[in-house]
Amino acid sequence: MNLYNKHLPRVNRILGDEEYLKYIHEIEELERDRIFCRHNMEHFLNVARIACLLDHDDSYDASEPVDSPDASKPAGSLDSSKPEDSLDSSKTAGSHETSSRAEIIYAAALLHDIGRGHEYLTGVRHEEESARLASPIIRRAGFNDEEEGLIISAIANHRNKECPEGRLDSIIYRADKLSRPCYYCKASQLCHKTDDKKNLELKI
Ligand SMILES: [Fe+2]
Repeated sequence: MNLYNKHLPRVNRILGDEEYLKYIHEIEELERDRIFCRHNMEHFLNVARIACLLDHDDSYDASEPVDSPDASKPAGSLDSSKPEDSLDSSKTAGSHETSSRAEIIYAAALLHDIGRGHEYLTGVRHEEESARLASPIIRRAGFNDEEEGLIISAIANHRNKECPEGRLDSIIYRADKLSRPCYYCKASQLCHKTDDKKNLELKI
């Protein structure tokens, strides 16, 4: 995927979305004294960039997303609808399609943790809350139903280690984990993660 100098208009619409900004500013405030990993723009962009690198790997074979969440269902339940994966056809296509592919990856990365603030305040699982909050933002940004299905699925499954390899869900899951510099973290000894879950060495 050639990403040089590509315009990402819909991603930039997300970055200018008032509701999106409200959620990430709220998280920023709630994490002001947090010594562990933060969920800020730096993290979102790291996830997006790593996800693009993983996506570039030839072994990536995009297929349909994992189950999409349904905000009307109780926490823990997932919808069984599986929209077709438009990433598949865009992988080898021209610049417009390449931009679309990058936009889908960036949208998922920018939005995957926006429910963190609600998790801190109410205890709700943030991957489900993020998916619920992301839906209107994705639509306002101009993504179609199929693209929204992919993005929402990736957000809802970004903590699901059972994600099948090759799907956008799996790419965002892996990028999220790889983005954390545990090898440089001063709070690593206090972190609840076991050593096998930490990035104790830099790798890609
Ligand atoms: Fe994250």
